[in-house]
Parts: sequence; structure tokens; C-alpha cells
Amino acid sequence: MFFLFKKKKKSSRVSIDKEMPKHIAIIMDGNGRWAKEKNLPRAMGHKAGVETIREVVKECNRLGIKYLTLYAFSTENWVRPQEEINSLMKLLVEYLKNEIEELHKNNVVVNHIGDISKLPQKCQTELINAYNKTKNNTGVVMNLALNYGGRDEIVHAVKKLLKDYEKGNIKLTDINEKSFSNYLYTAGMPDPDLIIRPSGEKRVSNFLLWQCAYSEFWYANIYWPDFTVEDLHKAIQDYQKRDRRFGGVKE
Ligand code: IPE
Ligand code: IPE
Ligand code: MG
Repeated sequence: MFFLFKKKKKSSRVSIDKEMPKHIAIIMDGNGRWAKEKNLPRAMGHKAGVETIREVVKECNRLGIKYLTLYAFSTENWVRPQEEINSLMKLLVEYLKNEIEELHKNNVVVNHIGDISKLPQKCQTELINAYNKTKNNTGVVMNLALNYGGRDEIVHAVKKLLKDYEKGNIKLTDINEKSFSNYLYTAGMPDPDLIIRPSGEKRVSNFLLWQCAYSEFWYANIYWPDFTVEDLHKAIQDYQKRDRRFGGVKE
């Protein structure tokens, strides 16, 4: 149904001979405005956004991207009308139920980041089942960021670290940037190389605050349901032209 509204665009493709980002993170924004423009309820925008997820995951996998983090529900999104929250949670369960076989077949690891203990029990169960089913896959790791907030993640990490400190598992002198990052939800994963935010907003909205220290940002005036594989290619092509210096100087 919803794909009828989507635009089809054609443009050049990225060259996989050039350096590819290992980790792409996306703030999937603009579902509500997409629906509003079409006089549809916001829930329809979220539903259309799922179609985009399907295509983007497939393409990242094809391109050999190792990690894809998708911001799906923030720690701040609880202030939305309860009806919208319910429809988002329902959509998550439907998505996992309907797509898990295909994702598994495509070798995708379905992981999650964020404090999922605050999500409805059904969502938690589906997320855990999806992870257990796919954890040994070797394709792209899709991190669904749910009840995720960068500040919340850091506080959560500090608490975990202090517990280890109290137990004597870690000494003060062992605490550094590298060891600290192992207490984050993204433990063991590289920081995002590229952060994409469609919808026209140019802000970080509490996403991957620790991890984005040296990420490249790509913004576009496209609502997430209209975001295509070609837009993904454009973002990666742009990324490949960036001069990442990490504070150093070019020879
Ligand atoms: C992003 O789309 C999805 C979530 C935050 C869950 P929005 O719902 O924020 O869409 P806009 O920004 O209102 O258009
Ligand atoms: C960020 O989008 C969160 C997600 C995409 C899940 P928001 O729509 O919640 O962000 P703000 O409120 O515009 O900053
Ligand atoms: Mg938004």
C-alpha cells in the first residue's frame, strides 16, 4: 500500500573500492511530517518508514557495512501521545515477527541498544528472540536503538562501572576512554563513521553522544519514508570525499 506514495530515484552508486564506513547510524526522522503532508495519520508515516528500513538494511548488507544503528525510539519519545507510542510498539512487534525469517536468511544480526526493560513485555520478548535467533549470523549487525538516549547510556555505563569498582573488578587506574566504552550499549563495536539524519533537522537529539566524537554527519531534506537506497549511496559517496583528520594534520 504505502510504497505507492514513494518516489523512485535513480543516481550513481558508491564505489566499494573506496573506503566504506564500517558503521552507519541513522536518525530515522520525518515519518510524522511525511504522513501529515498526505493527510494521513502519523502511524501511517511510521508504517511507511518500516519499508525504508527493509531496503536500507538489505543494501547495507550488500555493501558489506558491518554495523547499522537505527534510532527508532528515544528516551524522550515517551512524551508523545500514548496512542502514537502504542502504535510504534505494535509496529515494532509486527516488524520483528514479519521480517525475522527474511533478516535471518539474509544473515543479518538483529541487535538492540537502549534500556529495553521499559518497553512493553511483548517488544522485549520479540527483541530477545530475534537476537538469539540471529546472533551467530555474519552479515550486518542491525542495532535497533529503542528507549535509547545518549545521556541515559552514559549514566547507565557509570553505574555499571561503579558496581565493578565496588566488587574490585576494576581499579581507578584501569578507567580510560577505551575501557569506559566497553560499558556502553555499543561495547565492542566501532564508533559510527557516518551519521545520517533525513527530515531537514540538523541536530543530534541525544543520539550516540559518546560515540559520535569523530563521526561524519550527513543531513538531507527528505522524510525517512522517502529515503531511498540512492540517498544512502549519496551519503556514502559524500562520506568518501570527507577528509577525516581526527585532530591531526594532513601530510
Ligand atoms: C521519527 O519520525 C520516528 C520516531 C521518532 C519514532 P517522527 O515521528 O519524529 O516524525 P516527525 O519528525 O514528527 O516528522
Ligand atoms: C529523534 O527524532 C529520535 C528518533 C528518530 C527515534 P525526534 O523527532 O524525536 O527528535 P526531535 O524531537 O525532533 O529532536
Ligand atoms: Mg521527528
